Amino acid sequence: MKGWPVRCLYFLVLNAAVQSVTSLEEELSDSIFGNFLDPLKDLFEPRELESNATAVRFSLRKPSMPEDDLCYLTPGKPESLAACSFNSTSKTFLVIHGWTVSGMFESWVSKLVSALYRREHTANVIVVDWLGTAQNHYIVAAQSTQLVGQEIAGFIDWIEETTNMPLENLHLIGYSLGAHVAGFAGSHSTNKVGRITGLDPAGPDFEGQHAHRRLSPDDAHFVDVLHTFTRGSLGLSIGIQQPVGHVDIYPNGGGFQPGCNLHGALEKIANYGLFAITDAVKCEHERSIHLFIDSLLNEQTASKAYRCGSNQMFDRGVCLSCRKSRCNTVGYDISKVRKARNVQMYTKTRASMPFRVYHYQLKIHFSSKVNRSDIEPSLTVSLYGTKGDAENLELKLKEKIATNKTHSFLLVTEQDIGDLLMLKFRWEEDKGWSASSMLKMVSSWWSGDPDSSDMAVHRIRVRVGETQQKLVLCVKDPEALSLTQEITFVKCRADWRKTGANRGTFTLENH
Ligand SMILES: *[C@@H]1O[C@H](CO)[C@@H](O)[C@H](O)[C@H]1NC(C)=O
Ligand SMILES: *[C@@H]1O[C@H](CO)[C@@H](O)[C@H](O)[C@H]1NC(C)=O
Ligand SMILES: *[C@@H]1O[C@H](CO)[C@@H](O)[C@H](O)[C@H]1NC(C)=O
Ligand SMILES: *[C@@H]1O[C@H](CO)[C@@H](O)[C@H](O)[C@H]1NC(C)=O
Repeated sequence: MKGWPVRCLYFLVLNAAVQSVTSLEEELSDSIFGNFLDPLKDLFEPRELESNATAVRFSLRKPSMPEDDLCYLTPGKPESLAACSFNSTSKTFLVIHGWTVSGMFESWVSKLVSALYRREHTANVIVVDWLGTAQNHYIVAAQSTQLVGQEIAGFIDWIEETTNMPLENLHLIGYSLGAHVAGFAGSHSTNKVGRITGLDPAGPDFEGQHAHRRLSPDDAHFVDVLHTFTRGSLGLSIGIQQPVGHVDIYPNGGGFQPGCNLHGALEKIANYGLFAITDAVKCEHERSIHLFIDSLLNEQTASKAYRCGSNQMFDRGVCLSCRKSRCNTVGYDISKVRKARNVQMYTKTRASMPFRVYHYQLKIHFSSKVNRSDIEPSLTVSLYGTKGDAENLELKLKEKIATNKTHSFLLVTEQDIGDLLMLKFRWEEDKGWSASSMLKMVSSWWSGDPDSSDMAVHRIRVRVGETQQKLVLCVKDPEALSLTQEITFVKCRADWRKTGANRGTFTLENH
């Protein structure tokens, strides 16, 4: 019985990931998974580990040469600490890579090292090299994560004993399989490490496993996780779908990262064959790392994530509150909130760095005298603020517009528009607006006797996630409407509650 609510949450997340998929993307990803996961399945054929010995090396990189391995720390050889200028009073990062086909460090490693030094000038950034083991077949590499983790735990114990470094200063950052390696390192070290960040922890062979056999909140004082590629059929998602930390953030629902061009990837496959697929997979899987790098480099434009029951709810904008630590900062500067239960959070991002967007919830009540069930208009909104404008943003309908019902929408702007001053709202039926319907709309307004089938919006309620600003907007000037498709809303007058019944109503449409 105890496991039930957890499984229920898990189901919600899966469901959210599945449902956010549009049909085109679904089609694309089907063909990708069809191609990609079949060979992956072959890798699941059990193989004997030839030996339990792994070669793990610890390279303390220099801020001036983030790409080069110039000095290795060797457990049992305290002189290597001095030789590499290890600073025992500073923060220490262990960067742990994942599965590799090439057997070489990927380009993100030096970018992350650089970004860590940029933020923490005196830190020790140690790159853990377990490439020799990580280039085995996936399943062999996955089964080796525990041994590699144990070796790292030995290194952590040695450093702690030798330098008296407080482990609160130790931060393990693991990507993909490396996230589980970090988990094993944390669980096997004698004392608890300060923090583990899991960057899209690997899914295959870990999804649904007991907490002891994967990254889990027990592995460090604080475990935070970014999930960026949690698509695919059950248990065969590249990134793990279930929450595995104290705080688990699912940017863009945990799948379909903007800017990762599935279309382009498919073309590449057509031209260059199956191995080109790694580009599309890598883009979304690796996005977790770039989001983390962004948080190190662009502290002043930190992304916020919001606690939510599911991605579908988040997509309706209903989870933008920051009360009682319901929101948090994405990446390095996350607040270390440790709740009894795991916290799942969501955020939207841009397609490239800086990834931060502004989240808006729009609550719109559509009223009419007559029940209408047939309408699926396209809704467009433009926002005008003290610092800038964001025009022609589509409001995504998650359901049909229902009469006398308040609908909630999530809207995202890439730029900071400052305080919201004005909003323009456009409603278009399938075929767009004809001049005659606009004329009717205006004339019915003038006559003061709108057709009984008119759908109307009185006010729009707005909540901004990033500023926590809340405001109510009313129709700007109903009497001075011109022949335009757009309806302008501005901050309601202070007395709108008293007079609101008649003022500020605008009829959207006339049939
Ligand atoms: C694994 O390591 C232990 C001791 O470290 C050794 O006794 C054992 O033989 C090793 N197993 C294999 C399969 O190499
Ligand atoms: C070591 O780190 C501390 C604190 O981070 C700093 O004050 C000190 O200057 C560093 N020492 C060296 C030799 O860089
Ligand atoms: C919607 O609400 C208004 C005001 O409360 C009411 O006059 C109208 O009849 C309602 N429409 C429907 C279809 O129930
Ligand atoms: C509109 O539909 C709702 C629910 O289906 C119903 O309760 C209400 O009476 C209807 N109103 C009118 C005016 O038909």
